[in-house]
Amino acid sequence: MEKFEFYNPTKLLFGKGQLSSLKKEIPAYGKRVLLLYGGGSMKKSGLYDKVIHELKEIGATVVELGGVEPNPRLTTVKKGINLIKENQLDFILAVGGGSVLDCAKAIAAGVPYDGDVWDIVLKKVKASSNSVPIGTVLTLAATGSEMNGNSVITNWEENEKKSFNSIHVYPRFSILDPELTFSVPRDQTVYGIVDIMSHVFEQYFHASSHAPLQERIGEAILRTVIETAPKLVNDLNNYEYREVMLLNGTLALNGLTAMGVKTDWATHYIEHAVSAVHDIPHGGGLAILFPRWMEHVAAVRPEKVAQLGVRVFDLDPAGKTDTQLAAEAIESLVKFWTSIGAPTKLSDYGIDDKEIELMTERAMLADQIGNYVPLSNEDVRKILRNSL
Ligand code: NZQ
Ligand code: ZN
Repeated sequence: MEKFEFYNPTKLLFGKGQLSSLKKEIPAYGKRVLLLYGGGSMKKSGLYDKVIHELKEIGATVVELGGVEPNPRLTTVKKGINLIKENQLDFILAVGGGSVLDCAKAIAAGVPYDGDVWDIVLKKVKASSNSVPIGTVLTLAATGSEMNGNSVITNWEENEKKSFNSIHVYPRFSILDPELTFSVPRDQTVYGIVDIMSHVFEQYFHASSHAPLQERIGEAILRTVIETAPKLVNDLNNYEYREVMLLNGTLALNGLTAMGVKTDWATHYIEHAVSAVHDIPHGGGLAILFPRWMEHVAAVRPEKVAQLGVRVFDLDPAGKTDTQLAAEAIESLVKFWTSIGAPTKLSDYGIDDKEIELMTERAMLADQIGNYVPLSNEDVRKILRNSL
């Protein structure tokens, strides 16, 4: 293991009816609230009215910013920053999926910063401890944004989708009521499932030695997702399946399995580059890219892919090499994702080879990305080509 520090300040409020905790939580941060939400699902499901009711009960002054895009855009972040400054707001309530939550984090960090907020995302200017406090009501199990300090923002004009991380933008509290995820349609539910599993993979395929507990925790999350997902996608209003998936999503990316290990994240960088150029759903992109990434790394280091096959997909290792087991593990993963309705090729989204160069360039943060097996420009290009 590597030495590490762990601090996660987010208070989780999990379970049926937790929305009423808003009254208790918000006043500690002030009553002038920016209510941030997405493209309309919240109004359709009736959640909007319930949130407004809670805010009225504490006498909050509410300024709204709806229409946050899936793959949230820098332009919307800037609108939010202006609204907070113009109206002297002191708290952001983000209601939605990862996109709304990520947008809230960038707004929060952008308010006390004198320059262009894009500097914080792209140039890694540090977010200030004066970032605006955030609370969230999560409506989709996927990103883990409800209990981490990550924010992923798209600068559509520049075809850049980049992330930043800061301890100062962790949500102060996050409300997770499984019932609020009932209305997530089947396709978005599947994308969320793929994203959750992918987050485990990015940490499971680490470049450190001797981290058996972190790996076992990752495997437990994966096995629980695999057990629950097929039942959930055929029974979207089932409270217990939604509940299990919601908790899986949070634990997959709240720092738990990253303790003491050098994590990978190359596949996420590649997916962010694909969606920066083609605006596809994040989980859909990962379902296509992850098996191709695994094939690539298994050619050099098959052992962890083999371990995944044995411990998560119950492959029988008797008489097989790691290379054979790795190939079977990848086949099992693709079979599983296909069975729940995930895409398998970039051409499923109408993407051809025209923009491979741009996507390759956008995926590279430095000369190499990833840690389990560092990838060069040429490797990324190859993975993208194999994904077409
Ligand atoms: O915008 P609305 O109308 O709300 O509809 C959304 C959106 O169309 C809909 N939805 C959300 N909750 C719903 C619902 N529809 C019906 N009922 C509900 N209860 O689902 C669609 C997708 O929402 P979005 O928030 O975009 O999905 P997700 O949570 O998967 O977030 C994806 C974004 O998060 C980033 C991704 O790159 C992408 O930009 N990520 C953030 C991470 C983080 N902060 O740690 C890590 C991830 O790896 C990821 O990169
Ligand atoms: Zn992800």
